[in-house]
Amino acid sequence: PETGSLSIIVLGASGDLAKKKTFPAIFHLYLQGFLPPDEVHIFGYARTKISDDELRSRIRGYLVNDKSASHLEDVSKFLQLIKYVSGSYDAAEGFQLLDKEIEKHEISRSSQEGSSRRLFYFALPPSVYPSVCRMIRKYCMSKSDLGGWTRIVVEKPFGKDLDSAEQLSSQIGELFDEPQIYRIDHYLGKELVQNLLVLRFANRFFLPLWNRDNIDNVQIVFREDFGTEGRGGYFDEYGIIRDIIQNHLLQVLCLVAMEKPVSLKPEHIRDEKVKVLQSVLPIKDEEVVLGQYEGYRDDPTVPNHSNTPTFATVILRIHNERWEGVPFILKAGKALNSRKAEIRVQFKEVPGDIFKCKKQGRNEFVIRLQPSEAMYMKLTVKKPGLEMSTIQSELDLSYGQRYQGVTIPEAYERLILDTIRGDQQHFVRRDELKAAWEIFTPLLHRIDRGEMKPIPYQTGSRGPAEADELLAKAGYVQTHGYIWIPPTL
Ligand code: BG6
Repeated sequence: PETGSLSIIVLGASGDLAKKKTFPAIFHLYLQGFLPPDEVHIFGYARTKISDDELRSRIRGYLVNDKSASHLEDVSKFLQLIKYVSGSYDAAEGFQLLDKEIEKHEISRSSQEGSSRRLFYFALPPSVYPSVCRMIRKYCMSKSDLGGWTRIVVEKPFGKDLDSAEQLSSQIGELFDEPQIYRIDHYLGKELVQNLLVLRFANRFFLPLWNRDNIDNVQIVFREDFGTEGRGGYFDEYGIIRDIIQNHLLQVLCLVAMEKPVSLKPEHIRDEKVKVLQSVLPIKDEEVVLGQYEGYRDDPTVPNHSNTPTFATVILRIHNERWEGVPFILKAGKALNSRKAEIRVQFKEVPGDIFKCKKQGRNEFVIRLQPSEAMYMKLTVKKPGLEMSTIQSELDLSYGQRYQGVTIPEAYERLILDTIRGDQQHFVRRDELKAAWEIFTPLLHRIDRGEMKPIPYQTGSRGPAEADELLAKAGYVQTHGYIWIPPTL
């Protein structure tokens, strides 16, 4: 591993994302020893004029999770590594000052090799990405005579449609090379999403079954049981398709559907993901159901006549040898009856089935991304007892039970570590982003123009009934009378 000075610069340090996600993730890495205090320094940068201590006290509450003296001491030691610099996002002074501060810290460690590693984390609205990139490029790049690198971490929304995304990509692309750009999609940092590759390509079980001959339909589902609370203004500009489906669920789809990569090299994996995206056919209007929860427009930051969907079911069709004819049903919604994210692979009926009249349901392979990480296979077995009858049961790998005492890392934690290590496997490449926007842009434009309207649904419901009807039409068969119960410890 590389050694020497490592500077992590959090831009937008006083904002919500930084406080809730970025700093806690960096703190966890620190606790686990990935950020040696003699190498690492952390800088917060934002417009607000506050002191180091004020920033520290704003963050503190998000780091403390138990009251033990040793934990509190860890928090304090960590906070001492943070230095705050204030400045605007488009003027030289702030960034020159930032550079000086970083350099001070680097020079004090310059006896070691690879001493100028600079990681810029953009916890910022994308509107300032181009100017911030220019400022970094001009004033804050890693000092090449010390060795090291400069990397930037950026987060969605990457534009609002194909054109705006491409424009943003080229603005950033003129200043940084692709290997320096880490586009985060935090779903790629989730444990069970990272498991998909292993599952699919390290197990003989799945190889012969994972195709159109055996799989009837695939669902990738995201549900939240709360609304847009406090984020109505942002959300209304984007809607559920841009917020969840075009990025998080589509990334999961890629990993479910892609061919085996040549190797585990990041570029080989990303090559295969791009191919899947490029094979997706145009979305048909009749394979889309949109919804908006009742009460969404009561949020004062949401316009009274908003046409923005807070729920969507969209069927994607992949035109290739493996998946022709298999619907990939992407579904996401806010203010629904539960909070969960899962992948549900439903298999076809058994040909020439002699148990048909007695059977409860189809085989299904479910990967529960959250909460209660698990994977389970629903299958038909003989009902225990004297009668020859059948029942739906499951082979269950529930993480909480199987891996007791193992802490599953937070998505952001893992992805920041990848950035430090220079591993881009779990980040979105520019051509991938473009292909993702190509799929959804025509539909999004129709919604933006008001040509497609969301159906109202009650908060705390399953979403519009039309979505269930679309599911049934696509071939999904619900197993009646079966509920998976996560095992208790
Ligand atoms: C974010 C979306 O990307 O993901 C939010 O902007 C959403 O609207 C969140 O709530 C969900 O993330 P997670 O990790 O809680 O499933």
